[in-house]
Amino acid sequence: MNKISIVGGAGRVGETTAQILAEQELCREVALLDVNEGMSEGVALDIVQTSPFFKFDSRVVGSDDPSILAGSDLVVITAGQARKPGMSRSDVLEANVRVIDAVTDEIMTHAPDAMVLVVSNPVDTLTYRVAQRTGWDRRRIFGQAGVLDASRMAGFIAQETGFSVRDITTMVLGGHGDTMVPVSRFCTINGIPLSHFLPEERIAAIMERTRKGGAEILALRKNSSAYDAPGAAVATMIDAIVRNRRRLLPCVAILDGEYGEREIAMGVPCVLGWQGVEQVVELDLEPIERADFDRSAASVRADIERLREIS
Ligand code: 2OP
Repeated sequence: MNKISIVGGAGRVGETTAQILAEQELCREVALLDVNEGMSEGVALDIVQTSPFFKFDSRVVGSDDPSILAGSDLVVITAGQARKPGMSRSDVLEANVRVIDAVTDEIMTHAPDAMVLVVSNPVDTLTYRVAQRTGWDRRRIFGQAGVLDASRMAGFIAQETGFSVRDITTMVLGGHGDTMVPVSRFCTINGIPLSHFLPEERIAAIMERTRKGGAEILALRKNSSAYDAPGAAVATMIDAIVRNRRRLLPCVAILDGEYGEREIAMGVPCVLGWQGVEQVVELDLEPIERADFDRSAASVRADIERLREIS
């Protein structure tokens, strides 16, 4: 890719993402847009000064002027209010929908051909909002959540079993909230079902810890949500697109009949390639998994209903 922009580029997730994109030379230029004057220039300079260590030639620039988005192939949105300890992701919906609307308008003005990767929370609802506002092809609008949640689950399984995380495969579906759906049936260690290694109650505990993974970090850090793993998760999705890997990853996608859902965005397995979300993969869920998925969809839909009241 030639250019990837990050809106909210001076925030922690934005900065971490930018550092990885530059280090991995996933594009020629990383542009950071942030409303706070000077901050994204400072972040950009700091990252540029790591280039001799990591030996990358990607340019990194920052500005508070939205015209910096011009020519972007992909725009990542990390802008908005982060939740505080004790808050749910939905508690920042009102504040963040206004930010997202303004950012969407800037993207439509300056980068009308870009793909949009939403990270700001509540991510499912805000991804849906961007899709509604732009009216763009749904392959171009998607959100990050499941890659992070699945990586958290893989980390917990590695800690619990002692196996290399390289051999661990996990899948987390649904909305990025307390109702998310870690699907233990699809979790394996080098293809061997997780149930071969762990008793049911330990698997259930890992699933519950995964659901609360973001809140656990927020409660411990106190002044910040997670940003290292979220940045790595965003970069993983971008790597799949830039290198046209056609990876099967859980992404927040706009559903159009898949899983019996429409007019919603939520986490489902997707094929990510150079066109963005090239395919939504429908899985045959077992009744209990299906019930959890439906409950999660209902909770995302409740936020989407709140959106209608806001606008
Ligand atoms: C998380 O789960 C911030 O939603 C993000 O850490």
